[in-house]
Amino acid sequence: MSVEFGALSSLKITVLIEDSAGFDSKLLAQHGISFLVEAVGDESHKLILFDTGQNSFSILYNMEILKINPSDIDIIFLSHCHYDHTGGLCGMLEAIGKRRVPVIAHPAIFRHQFTVEPTFKFIGMGPDNNRAAIEHAGGELFLVDKPLRLMEGVLTTGEIKERVDLEKKPTLELLTMTEGKASADYFRDDTSMIFRLPEGLVVLAGCSHAGIVSIVKQAVKLCGVSEVLAIIGGLHLLTAVEERIEKTIQSLLELNVRMIYAGHCTGQKAYPILMNRCGKRFEKLYTGKTMTF
Ligand SMILES: [Fe+2]
Ligand SMILES: [Fe+2]
Repeated sequence: MSVEFGALSSLKITVLIEDSAGFDSKLLAQHGISFLVEAVGDESHKLILFDTGQNSFSILYNMEILKINPSDIDIIFLSHCHYDHTGGLCGMLEAIGKRRVPVIAHPAIFRHQFTVEPTFKFIGMGPDNNRAAIEHAGGELFLVDKPLRLMEGVLTTGEIKERVDLEKKPTLELLTMTEGKASADYFRDDTSMIFRLPEGLVVLAGCSHAGIVSIVKQAVKLCGVSEVLAIIGGLHLLTAVEERIEKTIQSLLELNVRMIYAGHCTGQKAYPILMNRCGKRFEKLYTGKTMTF
């Protein structure tokens, strides 16, 4: 069953932080993601911060150059637990300087997530961004695993429960703790945002650990809209074998995704394949890039 959630009249997405800043840029780059979403509907207008990079310093530095005032941010959305998407959370909340700023994420975002290869390393939400610190910095947590409507034309995907065969196994093998034992982590917390415009959908993802094809399919099913204007985000194909990269791109083209804006963890192996297969339908993300719909 699809969800009726209205449509936006315009959408602008700015890359506040990404792994590259392009040649001769004044902006800082960093391994991580943070996007600023300006969503304009007939009844409301919201500024949404999608992920917060590894630290707030670089994001705030870039925002000053881009002349964006942090205190104008209304909502923060966290796509998943990784330090390069959540590390700047408390710093950004302090810069926003308001009380009870909604911080939306999946309930599993605070779980332990780690690797033991080549050595033990913690990868999830760091100790500086625990629940008490987030609330102290002005955030109010809304931990939901179901889709959430934020305004007309803006919906979160909720947990991606149906994963296509190609994406049943995540491209990144990490561990979590279940009943005192280390077990494979399935990225239950990996959620994305969907924007509905009169012409179709835009899907914004962090690292697409749940699988970009599964994410797009869930968005199409949820909204009952098959036109996908764009997907934007990291596709986490950097650890995927070439066959999986090819099949992923083929599936996106079969879903009629008109534009693929990919960066961050998409990976150097995937970019030339995307260029060859998608031509002008692919653009690389970089810090400072803007996309308007
Ligand atoms: Fe990432
Ligand atoms: Fe990630």
